[in-house]
Amino acid sequence: MSKDFESMEDSNRSANAGIHDVSDPARRLWVQGGLGTLAATVLAPLLGGCATASMGGGPLLGFKSIPITDKDTMVVPEGYEAVAFVPWGEPVGVSGQMPAWRMDASNSAADQAVQMGMHHDGIHYFPIGGSSTHGLLAMNHEYTDDGLLHPDGMKTWSAEKVRKAQAAHGVSVVEIELLDGRWQVVRPSKYARRFTASSPFALTGPAAGHALTRTEADPAGTLVLGTLNNCASGMTPWGTYLSGEENFAFYFDGPDAPDADQKRWGLRKTGFYRWPEHDARFDAKRHPNEFHRFGWVVEIDPFDPTSVPVKRTALGRAAHEGAWIAVTHDGRAVVYSGEDARFEYIYKFVSRDPIAPGGAKANATLLDHGTLYVARFDAAGSGRWLPLVQGQGPLTAANGFADPGAVVVRSRQASDLLGATKMDRPEWLAIDQKARTVYCTLTNNGSRGAKDMPDVDAANPRAMNVMGQIIQWTEDGDFDAMAFRWTHLVLAGDPANQRPEARGNIQGDIFACPDGLTLDARGVLWVQTDMHASQMYKGEFKGMGNNQMLALDRSTGEVRRFFTGPVNGEVTGVTLTPDGRTMFINIQHPGETASDRSDPANPSRYSNWPDYQPGGRPRSATVVIRKKDGGPIGT
Ligand code: FEO
Ligand code: CA
Ligand code: CA
Ligand code: CA
Repeated sequence: MSKDFESMEDSNRSANAGIHDVSDPARRLWVQGGLGTLAATVLAPLLGGCATASMGGGPLLGFKSIPITDKDTMVVPEGYEAVAFVPWGEPVGVSGQMPAWRMDASNSAADQAVQMGMHHDGIHYFPIGGSSTHGLLAMNHEYTDDGLLHPDGMKTWSAEKVRKAQAAHGVSVVEIELLDGRWQVVRPSKYARRFTASSPFALTGPAAGHALTRTEADPAGTLVLGTLNNCASGMTPWGTYLSGEENFAFYFDGPDAPDADQKRWGLRKTGFYRWPEHDARFDAKRHPNEFHRFGWVVEIDPFDPTSVPVKRTALGRAAHEGAWIAVTHDGRAVVYSGEDARFEYIYKFVSRDPIAPGGAKANATLLDHGTLYVARFDAAGSGRWLPLVQGQGPLTAANGFADPGAVVVRSRQASDLLGATKMDRPEWLAIDQKARTVYCTLTNNGSRGAKDMPDVDAANPRAMNVMGQIIQWTEDGDFDAMAFRWTHLVLAGDPANQRPEARGNIQGDIFACPDGLTLDARGVLWVQTDMHASQMYKGEFKGMGNNQMLALDRSTGEVRRFFTGPVNGEVTGVTLTPDGRTMFINIQHPGETASDRSDPANPSRYSNWPDYQPGGRPRSATVVIRKKDGGPIGT
C-alpha cells in the first residue's frame, strides 16, 4: 500500500535502541504426500535452488533486460507475453451470482460482494491435483480508492457506499484453467469465493475470548466480522493461504485524545475511510475492543468452500505485511512476518507441534500453539530472537502483560520493552529452506535519522532512506534458533544520485522501494517495487520509471529488469505454477494519485490500464506472464 499509509504510521516512539518459498512443486507434493514423504523424497530434490532439466537448465537468468519506461503499459522481455486477467469487478464465479462489471462503477454493494475486489496484492496459485494448467488463485484486495469505486466518488457518502467499500476488500478465490494457451476463469465454480470486511472469521489462539477482544456484538470474543487491508500472502505446507492484515488503524475513528496504547497502534481521531459514519463497529470511541480484532494473520482453506477462515492470534498482532513458513528438521512450522510501518519489527513464530500429515484439517490448530519471537539485529552481523513470553523478562503483569493474550494483542509494546530493532518498514519475506536463509525487503524509511526519530543502525544504515534495501539472515542452526547472522543482500538506489544514501549498490538494473519478493523453484529471487505516485519521475527517482519486477541471481548478485507496469501502478504479488511456466503477478492501483484518491470527475486520469477505454476507470488486475515458446519463466 502507499500514501504511504505506512509512512504516515510512525507510532514507534519507544526508547529501545521461499521457504525456498517451499517452492510450488514442493508444496504440492507435500500437501499430497504428507510429512512422511517430506524429508526423504519431497524436499531433497527441490531445495537445491538450482535449475533442473525439467525446469529448463542453463544460466539462471536467460532473458534480455528491459529498460525503464514511463508509458501506461506493461512490458516484458523479448519472447514473453503478459496478459491482464481477473481485474477488479469481474465476477468470481459464484453460481447464479455473476453480475457483469460496469465501467461507470454503478455496480451495487451486493454485486461487489461476488466480484473481484479492488487493489489486488498478494496472490498464490494452488494446483488442483498437482496441475500446472488447472488450479485456484487466492489473492488479496488490500484497500479501496473510493474515488473510483463509486460513480461520484465520495460525494453523498452513504451506508451503501460503505458496504460496497467493505465488499471490495478482503480475499478472492477463483478457479482457473489453461485452455488453448490462455488462462481462463472457470465460472461457475464450487471454489469461487469472496472474503470481505464483513465475512465471519474465527478468532483463535491466546487473544480469543480475551477481555481485550470481547465486544458488544461478540461477547465471547471468538468471531470477528471481516478481514481488511490484506497485503501480502503466503502458503502453508498443508495447503492453506495466509494473508496479513496490514494498515488496519486507518479504518477506525478514535477518541479526541487516544490513550498511549491506542497511539502506539496509530489510532487517530479520524481515520481515512469514513466507515465509522455508517458502521459504528469502526468507531473506537464506542467499540474500543473492535480495534484489537484486526492486525492478525488470517488462514484460509481455499479448497473447502464451506470452511470458516481463522485469525491466528498466536502469531502476534501487527500491521502485518504477510506471513511465510519454514519447517524445522523435526517438522515444526516457523512463521516469519514483518510489520510494515516505520521503525517496526520482524517476528517469527515457532509452532509447538510438528506439522501433521493429512493437509488442512489435520493442522487446523497448529498455528494456535507455539512461541513468538521478535528480532534484534546487532552490529557486526549478529542477531538474536527475543521471546515474547508472558512472565519472562519485562513482560509482567506490572508492565501490562497479565497473560499471553495481552502479550499478543500488545505485541508492539512487548517488543519495545524487549529492545527489538526498529526496521525500515519490513515488507515481504522469502525463505531458502535448505540454506536456512531468509530475505526481507525493507522498502524505505524517509524518517530514518530525522529530528526526534531513531538514527541509523547497522541493519538500517542509511539516513532519509527513501530507496530501501533487502536484508538477509541465516539461522544459527535450525529455523528455531535463537541467534542468526545477517547481511544486506542489496541496497537499492541510483548511482546517478548525488546523495550517497540514495545511490545504493545494485549490480545491474536499478530499482527503488523493494516490496514484493519470492524465491522460485529455480532459485531466482524476484523483486517487485512500490514507489509511490507522490515521489515518482522526479528528484532522486527520476531514473526509476514505472514500478517494476526484477530477477536477482543470488550466486552472482546480478539484478535484471524483467517487467515494467503501467503508470502509477504498484507491481506486487508473485506466484508460479509448479512447472514454472506461468507466472501470476498483480498490478495494484494503476493511475494512483498522490493523495491515493482519484477524482471521479477527472476524465484525464493518469492511467486507464488495462481496458484503455477513453475516460474509463483504471482497474487493478492480475497479469499472466508466459514465455512464447512455453519455457520456464526467467530462462
Ligand atoms: Fe501493503 Fe506494506 O504493503
Ligand atoms: Ca500500493
Ligand atoms: Ca509498499
Ligand atoms: Ca507491500
